[in-house]
Amino acid sequence: MGRDPKRAEAAAAELSRDTGNPRIEALTADVTRQRDLGQLADRVAREPLHVLINNAGVTRSRRELTEDGVEATFAGNVVAPYLLTRLLRPALAPGARVVNITGGVPKGGLDLDNLQGERSFVGCRSTTSASSRRWR
Ligand SMILES: NC(=O)c1ccc[n+]([C@@H]2O[C@H](COP(=O)([O-])OP(=O)(O)OC[C@H]3O[C@@H](n4cnc5c(N)ncnc54)[C@H](OP(=O)(O)O)[C@@H]3O)[C@@H](O)[C@H]2O)c1
Repeated sequence: MGRDPKRAEAAAAELSRDTGNPRIEALTADVTRQRDLGQLADRVAREPLHVLINNAGVTRSRRELTEDGVEATFAGNVVAPYLLTRLLRPALAPGARVVNITGGVPKGGLDLDNLQGERSFVGCRSTTSASSRRWR
C-alpha cells in the first residue's frame, strides 16, 4: 500500500518480478485520512489476513490538521494504525500477526494534555513520541 498510485504500482510490479508471485496488488491510501483507511480496509478484508504491518511514518515540520480535524502526525502515527487494525480485526486469520513500526523517543515524555500539539508543536518529536508511547 502506498499513497501515490504510480509508485505503488511500480513497487508491486517489482515485488512480483522479484518473488515470482503474480498475486501482488497495489493499493492506495493516505493514512492520515480516515475515509481512505475505511476504503482500504474494505478492499483488504475480502480475504483472510495473515499479516498486517503498520509501517507508514508521518512527519510534519509544522502543525497541520487533517480533513478529519486531527493533527497530522498524530493522525498518521497513532490514529491510523489503531483504526486500520480495528477495522481489519474481523478479517484477521487465526494466529495472524499485527506489526506496528514506530520511531523511538530519545528523551522527554508524552504530554497527554497536548496530544494534538495545540499548546506546542515540535515536529518530529511529536511524531515519535506519539507513536512510540502509544504502542508500548
Ligand atoms: N528510518 C529510521 O531511522 C527509523 C527509526 C525508527 C523508526 N522508524 C519507523 O519506520 C517506519 C518507516 O520509516 P522509514 O525510515 O522507512 O521512513 P520513510 O522512508 O520516510 O518511509 C515512510 C513511508 O511512509 C509513507 N507515508 C508517509 N506519509 C504517508 C501517508 N500520509 N499515507 C501513506 N503513507 C505515508 C511514505 O510514503 P511516501 O514514499 O509516499 O512518502 C513512506 O513509504 C516509520 O513508521 C518510522 O517511524 C524509522
